[in-house]
Amino acid sequence: MLTVNHLCVSYGPVAAVKDISLTVDQGRIVSLIGANGAGKSSIIRAISRLISSQGEILLGDTPIQGLPPEKLCSLGLATVPEGRHVFSQLTVEENLLLGAHASQKGRENLSQGLADIYTRFPRLKERKNQLAGTMSGGEQQMLALGRALISKPNTLLLDEPSMGLAPMLVSELFDTLLSLKKEGLAILLVEQNASKSLAISDYVYLLENGSCIMSGKPQIFDHNKAIKTAYLGA
Ligand SMILES: Nc1ncnc2c1ncn2[C@@H]1O[C@H](COP(=O)(O)OP(=O)(O)OP(=O)(O)O)[C@@H](O)[C@H]1O
Ligand SMILES: [Mg+2]
Repeated sequence: MLTVNHLCVSYGPVAAVKDISLTVDQGRIVSLIGANGAGKSSIIRAISRLISSQGEILLGDTPIQGLPPEKLCSLGLATVPEGRHVFSQLTVEENLLLGAHASQKGRENLSQGLADIYTRFPRLKERKNQLAGTMSGGEQQMLALGRALISKPNTLLLDEPSMGLAPMLVSELFDTLLSLKKEGLAILLVEQNASKSLAISDYVYLLENGSCIMSGKPQIFDHNKAIKTAYLGA
């Protein structure tokens, strides 16, 4: 379970995240939606400790705001960051092995871990010896998700995982997220495709200029005309 209390992020004088609190229970998908620059990625980067922040961040009962990013994997947190960020000069399999080595659970059973990822993403198996940088955009996105999952996380942060994916792959991705939810993962999702992310989310936070202006079950967004027009493209 991920708990964030009173999170604030500033870049110099710019306050990008202002007093955000949220929780994500196991087996739940929680979405952050909002316009460009609303602070969604800053929240993801603060939780994954890539930028400093104020406030409290807990994984289960463990406060993590003082920990370096490399410790988080062993506590069960994995992130698919904005952009692809695979190691382009390494092969697909080498990228996956790096992901596995990031946590004790991932290291324990490397070959089974690889087999599980290859079952979930057959394309990665076909391309396991290809340099990651030569994979297509969508394939690299898949690899970034595979590299996160092979560490056997209990909590997954995803920053725009459908970016650049063809519509069919977007549907597959959302099916994958639903099955991960059923497997009990806690998932915090940032998506441009707000209507699709609402459809699979248990709870949604709408951000504007770093603040949460509305939160609740996805259904409440359906009934709000202004929100629908501004954020859901209706
Ligand atoms: N390294 C940085 N230095 C200065 N300002 C930054 C930095 N990173 C982000 N910001 C600013 O913080 C605000 C929030 O940015 P953030 O990337 O969190 O938004 P976002 O909601 O993810 O937007 P998008 O939908 O475009 O990805 C923006 O105004 C952005 O310009
Ligand atoms: Mg962003």
